[in-house]
Amino acid sequence: MSTTTTTDQETVSKENARFWDELCGSQLARYLGISDSSPQSLKKFDDWYMDFYPYLDHHIRFDDLKGKKVLEVGLGYGTVSQRLAEAGGLYSGLDIAAGPVNMANHRLRQNGLDGKATQGSILAPPFEPESFDAIVAIGCLHHTGDLQAAIEQCRLLLRPGGRLTFMVYYAYSYRRWIQAPRDTLAYARYELRGERGVVGASASRHRAAYDKSISGEGAPHTDWISKRSLAELCSSYSRFDSKLENADAIWPFRFLSRKLLLKTGLPGILGLDLYATATR
Ligand SMILES: C[S@@+](CC[C@H](N)C(=O)[O-])C[C@H]1O[C@@H](n2cnc3c(N)ncnc32)[C@H](O)[C@@H]1O
Repeated sequence: MSTTTTTDQETVSKENARFWDELCGSQLARYLGISDSSPQSLKKFDDWYMDFYPYLDHHIRFDDLKGKKVLEVGLGYGTVSQRLAEAGGLYSGLDIAAGPVNMANHRLRQNGLDGKATQGSILAPPFEPESFDAIVAIGCLHHTGDLQAAIEQCRLLLRPGGRLTFMVYYAYSYRRWIQAPRDTLAYARYELRGERGVVGASASRHRAAYDKSISGEGAPHTDWISKRSLAELCSSYSRFDSKLENADAIWPFRFLSRKLLLKTGLPGILGLDLYATATR
């Protein structure tokens, strides 16, 4: 619903490079008592991460990526980066912030894996068109400040038939209805008028409910989107599919464990995250 001007975009990108330098997942690492990046510590982090998102394997399909040129966009703590390289993908990583790039390269070196992570933005990617068979972007494109342009840049980087697998935040999740009812209602009205796009401008506390630094600061920019609008943003791809996942046990589900909640129908209808596959 919001538009981002060039100057706004420069500011968002600069803010992203600063904010995300603290690895996304740092709070979790602290909670797990991890203070170094030894193989043992990173394994502890990764085991927790893959257990917390049990459907990731299904969406990323690591086993299909052996021998394929894979680009990961938005690296964070590097769990997926390492898995992609271990699965035999010819790995390249891209992140706007230095911290995640250093972590991904550290993981590759530490495990004797090929591949390289580079600092840069998906909005101006430092790669030739049609360089990749697959692109994986979990929880990244909605932070760039221009989801539509990020999706288009990914398309240009894919060879014909190549596949983009990504996760963005769902605009009509139960969490959004509870935490940001006015914004969610305004977005529903916007879509009812036949318009398509993202919930752009948002309060810092709403962004912090999804991504927060150790000091409590919210991410500089976050978009939420519906299934229908996301399909529209991916209309230049030949094929598109999406599925809702994820839930957390906030009110009114406090009495349930998250594991149990994931087994109910809730994530599939009002889940937090939208996983999508778009084929060029
Ligand atoms: C929420 S983290 C997700 C990290 C990881 N994929 C995960 O699932 O834990 C978002 C990541 O996207 C990166 N990012 C944000 N804007 C970007 C841009 N324009 N280009 C590339 N990476 C970007 C951030 O630096 C950060 O590492």
